[in-house]
Amino acid sequence: MGLTAAELAKRDDFAAQYRRSTQAPIRQVDCAVCGCDYGGTSWADRAEVDGIIRALGLAPGVSLLEIGAGAGWPSLYMARQSGCEVTLTDLPFDGLAIAAKRAVEDHVADRCRLAVADAAHLPFADASFDAINHSDVLCCLVEKQAVLAECRRVLRPGGLMAFSVIYIREGLSKPDHAAAAETAPEFVESERSYPEMLDATGWEIVTRDDLTARFSENCLRKIGVEESLRGDLEPLMGVDFDARQARMRRRIEVLNKGHLKRELFLVRPRP
Ligand SMILES: C[S@@+](CC[C@H](N)C(=O)[O-])C[C@H]1O[C@@H](n2cnc3c(N)ncnc32)[C@H](O)[C@@H]1O
Repeated sequence: MGLTAAELAKRDDFAAQYRRSTQAPIRQVDCAVCGCDYGGTSWADRAEVDGIIRALGLAPGVSLLEIGAGAGWPSLYMARQSGCEVTLTDLPFDGLAIAAKRAVEDHVADRCRLAVADAAHLPFADASFDAINHSDVLCCLVEKQAVLAECRRVLRPGGLMAFSVIYIREGLSKPDHAAAAETAPEFVESERSYPEMLDATGWEIVTRDDLTARFSENCLRKIGVEESLRGDLEPLMGVDFDARQARMRRRIEVLNKGHLKRELFLVRPRP
């Protein structure tokens, strides 16, 4: 199945975010909240990414695939810190174009490949990579299970995949579910749980970490930093600043109730 009209609109929205992400005030927010300056749109912060580098065993000679790589966070940082080889894929060209320039600045261009590609149809042979990462990508697309199956296909036997994802807790009342969904990424809904989808696509879970509290803290930090830069950010963002801040506050409420969750999975192919 191809991308839905809503996904194509979201792709264009992400492209606009990546174009804006090179502006100094947006980089300032990035640095203050996530400890990075790559124009990230996920909630992966530096401590989380340092942990993923260790968990995936990234090192010179190891090949890493990142799907939904945006403008290069966190995969270019991973390549710089670990010496690994990295392949970045995403739908918006604009993010990858920024990542290509950054790879040169970071002196990792000779170990970096980039491809515009739908994660549900990756242009790579079976068993091409030693490791895969994706940060808050599955909640930004519809075909979650197809993407997990495609990742399974391109990862070598014995390889590892790390991914963070935002999801709505199962078993909520209709109003609580709606309140959580309203503050979540656009394609957060899923008929099956992540463990079920992983099982159906041939993965076994190695570890699973609940990052919800950290996510809530980072949202609160972001509200404060954005407020302090309001004058610079408001004209850049082209959105209703107060409505955006209010939605982030509602998100903190549902996170603190445990209705919306963010987790990091480390998984490997089931033999
Ligand atoms: C939350 S952003 C994360 C971006 C980046 N890795 C970061 O941490 O800043 C999710 C990314 O998933 C990408 N994405 C959404 N649907 C996709 C698809 N079908 N195939 C590949 N990437 C997709 C979006 O374009 C977006 O860049």
